[in-house]
Amino acid sequence: MNVPEPPPLPNIIGHRGVAGHAPENTLASIRETAAMGLAWVEFDVMMTKDGELVLIHDETLDRTTDGHGRVPEIPLAALKQLDAGAWFDTRFQGERIPTLAETADLLVELGLAANIEIKPARGYARETGQAVGAFLRDEWPPGLIAPIISSFWTEALEAVGEVAPGFPRGFLVGRIPSNWTEELERLGCALLHCSQRHLRRSQAEAVLASGYRLLSYTVNDGAKARALWDWGVEAVFSDYPDRLRDI
Ligand code: G3P
Ligand code: MG
Repeated sequence: MNVPEPPPLPNIIGHRGVAGHAPENTLASIRETAAMGLAWVEFDVMMTKDGELVLIHDETLDRTTDGHGRVPEIPLAALKQLDAGAWFDTRFQGERIPTLAETADLLVELGLAANIEIKPARGYARETGQAVGAFLRDEWPPGLIAPIISSFWTEALEAVGEVAPGFPRGFLVGRIPSNWTEELERLGCALLHCSQRHLRRSQAEAVLASGYRLLSYTVNDGAKARALWDWGVEAVFSDYPDRLRDI
């Protein structure tokens, strides 16, 4: 199988934009990522009731907007009425839930590369993967670097790989499972994205020795980042990239 690969990555990727500095998964947060001098940003993508793709982490609206209810039960027009910034700081009042299309336009403007995490609402993994695949195939801006597509959901990774096979994929896990090599091979993933909390040096070495690339989330502590980089972790996702620099 031809496994698409991203270019060499910088050692820090902004997490949900830069979630420590601006409301997660908003355009403001992505602008702030670029303003901090980062070259890559991660964000979460979910499907609305009417099949649109938006940036949000939780299936429910309550934590990061002034709305209530479940994203897969609400159409885009209603989601666009919500405030997605004031909960973080009144400076960000008026910030909206962005669509993936709006986000891609901003990435072009900023010259930022992206890791799109497919974050399906429960029961929608395959459909969300197909929708992201269709967007990549039909609408990804020409000239913008190909994003890394990641997900905890293997159905989503399978679907995106079927619809848009040329885009690099990363398998997201908490703990690295015992069958990780089989899964990466089956899914055509070049990368494994694991939680920093459970990663051991021996596991990192085994992943690299097998020719896969290893990323780790969420790292907000400088000493932890240094250890992970020493073990061969190529990039860490961080809410506070400023805390990891100059160490
Ligand atoms: O993609 C890395 C990381 O974002 C995965 O966890 O829950 O923050 O989306 P989560
Ligand atoms: Mg994420």
